[in-house]
Amino acid sequence: MARILAIGTATLDLIFTLARYPDEDAELRASGLCISPGGNAANTLIVLGQLGHTCAFGGVLADGPEATPILERLARHQIDLTACRAVRGRPPTSCVLLSLEGGSRTIVHYRDLPEYSGDDFGRIDLASFDWVHFEARDGPETVRMIRRLRESRPDLPCSVEVEKPRPGIEAVFADAMLLIFSRAYAGHRGFDAPHPFLLRMREQAPHADLIVTWGKEGAYGLDSRGAIHHSPAYPPVEVKDTLGAGDTFNAGLIDAYLKSLGLAEALSQACRLSGKKCGQIGLEGLAGKGR
Ligand code: FRU
Repeated sequence: MARILAIGTATLDLIFTLARYPDEDAELRASGLCISPGGNAANTLIVLGQLGHTCAFGGVLADGPEATPILERLARHQIDLTACRAVRGRPPTSCVLLSLEGGSRTIVHYRDLPEYSGDDFGRIDLASFDWVHFEARDGPETVRMIRRLRESRPDLPCSVEVEKPRPGIEAVFADAMLLIFSRAYAGHRGFDAPHPFLLRMREQAPHADLIVTWGKEGAYGLDSRGAIHHSPAYPPVEVKDTLGAGDTFNAGLIDAYLKSLGLAEALSQACRLSGKKCGQIGLEGLAGKGR
């Protein structure tokens, strides 16, 4: 199995389950509250660990007491934290509203930590890794990280998740091997259909396999030979929790690439795994039967 490094965030999520998404200025009672660690990169590693990989996280960790559940979760999943930087402060905290009616998850973020930097990344010994995954955050710093990766380990495959528009992030597209875009990012770039979006991204990323997730339609991919692939979504009988479904999708995709599956099969594996995740609360127990 592979050794995977992921760079990004580990957060504390306050997850309120609601019958339906509230109106502004409403007051309502939640049917559930779960205080649980999250964060895209951390979540993706938790799933990759379940799939049998050895995982390391690189990110900024807060040293305050509120960070304890985050550290405990990463330790429980045996995620190596050598590449992390600890600073004084509160962990990134997200208020998550899960609507049972719409199956949506609405997230409000609070963050006062600095971003993980190119200098932090420069201190990592990359020799032993088989894959590096970046949750694209600060554009110029991510560019520095990927340039360094290319200089020191040109053979090392890397994926970049582009979930939100970030100033300067397009500069990493040319150096990534696998780019995973969100539908929201496509929308920000002015696209409401996956094919034209992927074809436009191809102009900025001539070499990468390009993926875009498309909600209930599943996900689309454009391979380096120009073929477009699609996998439907695999919704569970009952949607219980969509938080982290995208992070789970990314883990399924990376795992498939590490097993040298083609893009079409990788899309299908990733959609099945994220569908399974939507049918359960949290990210535990995702590997194994029923995938
Ligand atoms: C889910 C998630 C949450 C976190 C937020 C950060 O994908 O990682 O755990 O609060 O997104 O964007």
